[in-house]
Amino acid sequence: MMIAQKRSAGPQTGKAPIGEHLLDVRKVLSDAMTDHWSGNAAAAEDGYRRVLNQNYRPIDVLPLLAKLLSNRGEIQDSLRHWDRLLALDPRHLSGLLEKGLLLHRANKLALAVDCFARAKAVAPDNALVMTNLAVALADVGRRNEALTEFQRVLELEPNNLHVQHQVRRLSSLIVPSWHVPMMNDTPRNDAFEKAIVAAVAQHGDHARVLEIGTGSGLLAMMAARSGAKRVVTCESVPVIAETAERIVEQNGYGQNVRVVNKPSNELNVGEDLDERADILISEILSCDLLGEKVLDTFEDAHARLLRPNATVIPRAATAVGCLVASDVLARHAFVSEVSGFDLSPFNALANQHLPVHGTMTSWRRLSGDFDLVTLDLTAKRHEGALRKQSVPVLEDGVAVGIVQWMRVDLAEGVTFDNHPDTYADGGWLQVLHSFPQPIDVKAGDELELVIGHDRSSLIVVPAPHDE
Ligand SMILES: C[S@@+](CC[C@H](N)C(=O)[O-])C[C@H]1O[C@@H](n2cnc3c(N)ncnc32)[C@H](O)[C@@H]1O
Repeated sequence: MMIAQKRSAGPQTGKAPIGEHLLDVRKVLSDAMTDHWSGNAAAAEDGYRRVLNQNYRPIDVLPLLAKLLSNRGEIQDSLRHWDRLLALDPRHLSGLLEKGLLLHRANKLALAVDCFARAKAVAPDNALVMTNLAVALADVGRRNEALTEFQRVLELEPNNLHVQHQVRRLSSLIVPSWHVPMMNDTPRNDAFEKAIVAAVAQHGDHARVLEIGTGSGLLAMMAARSGAKRVVTCESVPVIAETAERIVEQNGYGQNVRVVNKPSNELNVGEDLDERADILISEILSCDLLGEKVLDTFEDAHARLLRPNATVIPRAATAVGCLVASDVLARHAFVSEVSGFDLSPFNALANQHLPVHGTMTSWRRLSGDFDLVTLDLTAKRHEGALRKQSVPVLEDGVAVGIVQWMRVDLAEGVTFDNHPDTYADGGWLQVLHSFPQPIDVKAGDELELVIGHDRSSLIVVPAPHDE
């Protein structure tokens, strides 16, 4: 109010003394701050706005008003005031931080990331800035960068439990949970090692070995242990590649194994490999064979990274399955009447791919085992294809789908499978390819299926009746 009086008195008399005017503005500001701290937000806001109208200490007053507005949930107005502040001082650290937090709160995640990144350019070693940047990066889906930021915070604050938790949480989101059981899968590991030892013996110690998909570095170290002197292994996930590099070094194979943090389709001969490789090792088979882009990866490796007669480990993989009945799986695959309502249209959205724990999930075989799809991984090209197959039914039951597993052909006389009768707790689960709806079958029937793949997934469906 005092400012208003002075402002109107000034022009009228033309004699408003500058010192006195300043005193008045200061008083308004001081009153506004007192109001603010005592909880009278409306009076404080009024005071701050009047002070700002006089352009008095905007760098100090804009944050006060912006904070007051954001506390009241007036996000857009608050953002406008942070922007005014940042127009005056683009490197204002708390301005950048507070604006970033508001943008984050308003779910404008990409803008929040930009804002925190600007704050980081101002204060590169500020743990609060890095933490906020990491959270925003994680929320926007840039998990690898988020993890790097959290790891840097942890270097500054090694005992910070929240950051420790975030590092573990993000690592778990980035690194699939099958890695550790896969590493502990001795039959799998032994089968790979047998094939690797045979290939290195055949090609000699100076054979160039390329592994695609480093993981822990296990298979690359097996190649080095079997005598290979030049092993290059690539891994697309940065945190996995960094960890593998450490593991390889710690195990004493740093001289012979080079870990490259790249997806295989970005590798180049002459840059990452000195020459095309004599031996390819790659365990990138998902539970349903095709989920990890195995065909694209092997085709690209044959075309650009391997010698024409390179040994390929594994050299083939087959999806095997059988027809099954199971109340447990039926409850996961189908819905019908629930609480007196017909929910069956939801079946169209039900997952057609359910993980099965072979020895732990209760199911009953209604047919013998049969091969679904075989991938020849020495082939230079693959086409998606479908065929019809008649499956002889051996027992009466309600068929929910096909439980599928894998048989992997690693080398002459070296195979590995995750047959559900004998395999559990390894890296691969079995998979139920559920039918669109359950099918009543009787012993002696022939169930007609359409089976094949589209290069990135297996297709297993009952044949349409009119075909
Ligand atoms: C199933 S794990 C195998 C790890 C290790 N070779 C082993 O057998 O213990 C596959 C790994 O390959 C990586 N990967 C998959 N496709 C890749 C590609 N085309 N280029 C580089 N890494 C890839 C995944 O991130 C994952 O870490």
